[in-house]
This record gives sequence, structure tokens and C-alpha cells, in this order.
Amino acid sequence: MFTKHRTSRFRFVPRVVLLAILIYAFIWITGYPRQYDDDELPPDASRAKSAPTESPFCVELDQVVVGIRTTATDVWSKVPSALLFTYPAKYESVIVLGDLHMEVGAFHVHDVLDRFDDSLRRTSPDLERYRQQMTYQMQSRNLGALVEQDEVKERDIRLRLEKHKILRTLERTWQHLPERNWYVFVDADTYLVRPNMLSWLGQYDSGESILFGNWPRPGAEDSPSLGSTFVLSVQAMRALLVERKDVVQSWDTRLAEFPSAYAALASVLSTAVGLAPNRTWPGISGFNPRTVPYGPGVWCEQVIAMQSVPTGIASELWRLQNQREDYDHIHDPLTFADLWSRFIQPESMDEPREDWDNLSSGLENAKWNILFEATPHSIEHAHHSNRDDQSRAIRGEESWIACRESCNTNEQCVQWSFSSLATPNHNENGDTRCHLSRSLRFGQHVGAQTVDVDGEGAKSTWNSGWRRDRFEKWAQHQRCKSQQN
Ligand SMILES: *[C@@H]1O[C@H](CO)[C@@H](O)[C@H](O)[C@H]1NC(C)=O
Ligand SMILES: *[C@@H]1O[C@H](CO)[C@@H](O)[C@H](O)[C@H]1NC(C)=O
Repeated sequence: MFTKHRTSRFRFVPRVVLLAILIYAFIWITGYPRQYDDDELPPDASRAKSAPTESPFCVELDQVVVGIRTTATDVWSKVPSALLFTYPAKYESVIVLGDLHMEVGAFHVHDVLDRFDDSLRRTSPDLERYRQQMTYQMQSRNLGALVEQDEVKERDIRLRLEKHKILRTLERTWQHLPERNWYVFVDADTYLVRPNMLSWLGQYDSGESILFGNWPRPGAEDSPSLGSTFVLSVQAMRALLVERKDVVQSWDTRLAEFPSAYAALASVLSTAVGLAPNRTWPGISGFNPRTVPYGPGVWCEQVIAMQSVPTGIASELWRLQNQREDYDHIHDPLTFADLWSRFIQPESMDEPREDWDNLSSGLENAKWNILFEATPHSIEHAHHSNRDDQSRAIRGEESWIACRESCNTNEQCVQWSFSSLATPNHNENGDTRCHLSRSLRFGQHVGAQTVDVDGEGAKSTWNSGWRRDRFEKWAQHQRCKSQQN
């Protein structure tokens, strides 16, 4: 009896060990992000890859304040998840900046307007929503009911409110967490890759007045790819809030005239402190892993802040980071190539998709959009003329099949989308139905819609497809490591 028990235990132990090895091997294989280019790396580069490459000048965590900007009607839908994907150890330097005093678990949401110019608080048409929010809270009504059904109207209301909040947001943050090296202001649906942020900021001297932000240039169209995250150094905050005492207060009455919060803040910073924003793109962007235009220009770059990240994707990003750092002990900065491996590579993209995306068109993709030949049917001519012409594609306006064919015949094309109605490309292509791109984006499902064209209802549908083979071939030839070392 005893012997029998022992043998079964002896068999049991190796099995457990074997199982553990198999599970580990499986996780290692599936979780290792840039496995394909591993063998191709020169020996010294692969060694550097496993060694920690964290910047020796990494900023300490408590020296970076993260201000999460929100509005009362969004607090319950967006703030809890933003806090969930923040480590408890990092909570003390987080502040939630809104427009109504509220409590979310252990966090206080600040009403940054509570000391705003009193007569404006009572009368400004821009602050109508602010007053409604207070009334609703007093009567214990559902704040969500305040949100307008009409998106354009709702966006306008938010824009007006935001303009008035922006300077008070900075002021409130300084009052609660003064004299930290860096102040990072994000939206509640922004995902920060903190290790990258700390090593990136470590390259700069916070004792200088510095502002990082990809704000649209005055007069330029607002592009969703830029993102609204901005960063101020401690010296910039001091210059605005300490050295010049009444700047914030004196600007309360001047904010209404600006088109947006960023225009207002840019103006205050440039007139009061002489400070202009420095761009940090694509590290900080308005993309999320599903909308990134994967390709040249972003591939090897570090990801610092992404925006409009759906909660499910933020959760997956959080898990990816944890797996890399705690389990696989990878300390290399997270790059867009890593996001590709996790979010896009596992997707089936070999067949075209009906009712899918539309991301090949759109303003933020104009840069990667492939131009069509000026005159149709001149493919012969194109082959014999200069290089610029050769990179142009034949038009494929007749059907999605023609559009796919046009993509297939252009070497640079990795993705196409076809809309039943002509859509702007924001470049010299003008309005087209076929949209070709040199970058690869995943996009999303977009159902058929009826839209108004010259007073008549027209059906709008999208089809999309990818040339994943071409893309992966390109990706395998990238040498991100050598660029960083
Ligand atoms: C910001 O941009 C200016 C002008 O391009 C440049 O001189 C300055 O060094 C930049 N500052 C930082 C911190 O990158
Ligand atoms: C396609 O994208 C543009 C912006 O890129 C957006 O304005 C438009 O509503 C989208 N169309 C559909 C059908 O989703």
C-alpha cells in the first residue's frame, strides 16, 4: 500500500514538472513579442536586448504628477477604469480634475471651477452645463441625462466648458501637489506607458521651462492623431503660477474668446512665460493600438501615451506591460512593433472584410495615403517615367475588387478600403471610393448607414482588406534595436 502510494507520487512529480515546462514554453512562445527578428539580430544586439536598457536618468515616480482631466458626466463611465490601470503605488501622485466635487472610491474629483470668477460662474453661457451639473447633483439626479443626443452639440458644450477649466486645472494641481519635477495632463481614456514616460522625461532638465504637447498649429485642422496629452516641467509651472501671481485669475474673463482650451493655454503660456509647445509624436498620440498606422515612422518608436483607448484594450495593454516586465523580464521600452505583435498579428486579415473600418481614409491617415495617377489607364507610361510617378497607384474606383487589385499592383500598398460613396482623402486624390495606404491599421466594424447626399438618402458601406504578407516582410527587415543603441 505504502509502496504503491510512493510510486504514484513519483510519477506525479515529473508530470507536474513537465506540465510546468510546457506551460512556460507556451507562454514564452506566444508572449514573446518580436520573436521573428530575434535570430536576425547581430550577436551584440541580441545581448543588449536582454539587458535592461532603462535610462540611468529615469525620473522617480513620485516626481511625476499625473492629472486626469474629466467632466462630471464622464466620471462614472471613464474614471474608475483609468484608476484601475494605475498601480496602487502610483496613486499618490495622481489627481482627478473635473468640474463637480465628487468621490470615486478613495479619490476626490476636484471641481476646478469652484474659485472661478463668481459673476461668470453665475451668468456665462459657456458655463450653463456647469450650473446644470450642480443642480442635478443637489437633486440627486442622474448626471448622464445631461448629455446631448446630438454629438455636435455635445462636443460644443464640452469645448466651451474645457476652455474655462484649463488654467484652473493647472492651478489646482499645483495647490495639491506642488514642486514635483513633471506635470502630465491626460484624459481619462488616455493610457500611459509609465516606464517609457519616466525614461523619456529623464532626458530633460525640469529646471528649465518646458512644455510638451502636440497641439494643432494655429489655423490648422485639429487632427485626432495628435492627442491632447501635455506635459509641463516644474519650472514652467512655477513661472506661470508662482512667479506671476495673478495670471490665472486675470485670465478668467478672457478665455471665452479662444476657439479651444489648447489655444487658450498656448496663448497664456506664450504671453506670460514665453513658452511654446515642443512636439512629441508618435510617442504621445491620439491613437490606440487598433488605430495606429503601423509602418515607417512609428514602428520602432516608444509608446508613451495613447488616447481614446477603449477599456478592454486598456486592460490588454496593462496585461501586456505586466507580462513583459514581471514575467518575461523584458525591460526594453514598449514600442509600436510590440503593439503590433500583441494586438494585430493574431488577427485574421487574409480575407477582405465587409462592413469594416474606413481608416485608410480620414485626415490622420493622409500622410500614408497612396496617391493615384493623375490620368487613369496610364500604367504603361508610369513604368517609364520618374520614380515619383512609379509610386502612384492605378485607380480602382469601380468596385472593391478593382480597389483590391489596385493595391495588389502597387508595391507600397499594404491596405485598401472601399467606400460605396466617394470620401475625402485630405490630399490631392480628392474624393475617392478606393483608399490605399502604406501603413497598416486594424480599424473596426462599421455597419451600413444611410446618409444624406443632396437631399436624398444614399447607402454608405465600407469594405477593407490588407496585404499582411507584404507588411510582415517589411517588418522583418526593420532593425529597431540598432536605432536605440
Ligand atoms: C523645443 O523646441 C525648440 C525649437 O525647436 C528647441 O530649440 C528646444 O531645444 C526644444 N526643447 C526641448 C526640451 O526639446
Ligand atoms: C470615417 O472616418 C471619418 C474620420 O476619419 C469619420 O468622420 C466618418 O464618420 C467615418 N465614417 C464612418 C461610416 O464611420
